[in-house]
Amino acid sequence: MKLSQIIENDKKYYMNTFGDRTPVCFEYGKGMNLWDTEGKKYTDFFAGIAVNALGYSHPKLVKAVKDQTEKLLHCSSLYYIEKQAQLAKVLVENSCADRVFFANSGAEANEGAIKLARIYFNKKGFSDKYEIITLQKSFHGRTLATLAATGQEKYHKPYAPLTPSFISVPLNDLEALEKAVTPSTCAVMIEPVQGESGVYPTTQEYLKGIRKLCDEKGLLLIFDEIQCGLGRTGKLFAYEHYGVEPDIFTLAKALGGGVPIGALCAKEYVAQAFTPGDHGSTFGGNPLACAAGVAVMDVLLNDGLVENSAKMGEYFFEKLKQLSEKSGMISEMRGKGLMIGVQLKADKAKEVKDKCYEKGYLIGSVGANILRIAPPLIIEKQDIDGFISVLEVILAEIAQ
Ligand SMILES: Cc1ncc(COP(=O)(O)O)c(C=O)c1O
Repeated sequence: MKLSQIIENDKKYYMNTFGDRTPVCFEYGKGMNLWDTEGKKYTDFFAGIAVNALGYSHPKLVKAVKDQTEKLLHCSSLYYIEKQAQLAKVLVENSCADRVFFANSGAEANEGAIKLARIYFNKKGFSDKYEIITLQKSFHGRTLATLAATGQEKYHKPYAPLTPSFISVPLNDLEALEKAVTPSTCAVMIEPVQGESGVYPTTQEYLKGIRKLCDEKGLLLIFDEIQCGLGRTGKLFAYEHYGVEPDIFTLAKALGGGVPIGALCAKEYVAQAFTPGDHGSTFGGNPLACAAGVAVMDVLLNDGLVENSAKMGEYFFEKLKQLSEKSGMISEMRGKGLMIGVQLKADKAKEVKDKCYEKGYLIGSVGANILRIAPPLIIEKQDIDGFISVLEVILAEIAQ
């Protein structure tokens, strides 16, 4: 189908939640690259918003999905599912969690985390403990509860009244968080590195302080690692950078390498609060999504992708630093590993993103002046060099 026809169908039949999208439709991808319906090639530095960690058409992922598709797509969790149990085992063996539950998306995994925190206290006889403290500039999803947990007013406004019992406080301000704790507080929910709002890492002192506070006050600590987990920051889980373990953490995005899946992971003492009937999902943990997850975890753990993320992230930051000095157009670079935010001095983030697209590079932008970069974890030095030389030209163009 021609691009013009695809756009016409979209404009007429699809709900307009994405506005005017970039006028392109991708047909296939391989490695770091995508090709559109007109045959033009693009190099992807945003990975489907931090999803395609293995890049496109990774042979191990393709094989796992193909094999599973030929065998069994769905049977429901009324029965035991080999890949579900296998993926849970891999996640537990490689994290601080003892048990896992699978959902279909990040928001759904976070809903599960919120429910688990509440039921944990409820079953201990504290039904008056239900409030959750989150951070300003956070993003936790678009269901009604995760929207309320998200500390960004622009997402709240059209949906008032919000689901009650979420309070958000400024990032990296331990005193503000301490002050927000009330007798009703049950948990603190945090992205160790905030993604959607422009890549803002928490500090080590802050996370350690929160862990201590949670221990002293008997609160649960929930980490949303939906974007920053699974190798994105150069460690398998972002919490490993901080030496702080959460009681609950959530995953999604990269876990299925493009097949939708989310995971709710928890320590045993919290996980046991869920008993039969307390939570569930028709599709969550289905054979296909879990087969994809097993393949992704295999590649992440055994093919050196986490190490590559750390190494390439370091190289990327070094190159950006040089570009910053040379161009004089960058005010700040933030992030860890391959989760990168570049703040421009000029309010021209969308212009830079569009120019990158025209030159065959895909990146993201936030607000007026932040570029978001989250490439597949298979990235190599030459990909970074190619992108940096294009960005250099673009920054020189917008400086005029
Ligand atoms: C940190 C974080 N949490 C939750 C979500 C929501 O995930 P999903 O879009 O899969 O529901 C996102 C998505 O961008 C995210 O970045």
